[in-house]
Amino acid sequence: MSQSTSNLKDKLPPDCQVPAHIAIIMDGNGRWAQQHGLSRLEGHFEGRKATHRVVEACAELGVQALSLYAFSAENWARPGDEVSGLMTLIEQSLREELDDLIGGDIRFIASGRHEELPESLQRTLSEAEARTVDNDGMVLNLLINYGGRAEIVDAVRALAGRVQSGELAPEDIDEAALGAHLYAPELPDPDLLLRPGGEMRVSNFLLWEIAYAEIVVMPVLWPDFTGDHLVEAIEEYNERQRRFGRVPDAE
Ligand code: FPP
Repeated sequence: MSQSTSNLKDKLPPDCQVPAHIAIIMDGNGRWAQQHGLSRLEGHFEGRKATHRVVEACAELGVQALSLYAFSAENWARPGDEVSGLMTLIEQSLREELDDLIGGDIRFIASGRHEELPESLQRTLSEAEARTVDNDGMVLNLLINYGGRAEIVDAVRALAGRVQSGELAPEDIDEAALGAHLYAPELPDPDLLLRPGGEMRVSNFLLWEIAYAEIVVMPVLWPDFTGDHLVEAIEEYNERQRRFGRVPDAE
């Protein structure tokens, strides 16, 4: 465990509740690069270091699931060298971090339309999933070639297939049935949706799953994000009153 995250738990107030599932839109690499006179890809390289810090910090704080938006279905529209650079960076990072994930008892899963990714990345994702399948610490869910609408479309297609085969009646389709066909049905819905970089958008991220998530937007760009920012976000989350559509509890 690195120095910077070694006493994060002590920084949280004693009665502070750590969200079971945190979902992060890792935003701001491009602006960070521009501010430092670097290429966008160099911004993503720096973003990778923040990703490492935050995975470590979440595991230390006892977060049960961490979902990270690494590449959206819309990101293919970026310049070709940025897209191929990101694919290489994600694959290389995963290869380099795999032993640490195994050692840290972290289970890795990947969500998205992976059949459209480069084959070597597909193999790396499958290998990381297979080699961490028995880990029972935090689940790290990496979203690659992911779109929230596409995920819902894929779930609906799967349900339609089951109806067509006579396995399922249309009236049996409810929220639980649809939820069971999402990419990572075993995960609880995110409690906290965290967006560094200051933009007030959800950007097609986990549209179904964030129905009742608390949203925390922070101005800090992703490459500058540290464990202390995570603590700050968790503190803000603790100030929220989660009502799930109900009225506030009586005093
Ligand atoms: C958004 O910032 C970021 C991405 C599209 C890529 C996220 C990738 C990483 C953080 C690299 C590391 C990933 C792993 C899995 C190790 P942006 O480029 O949209 O920034 P901008 O809004 O400032 O332009």
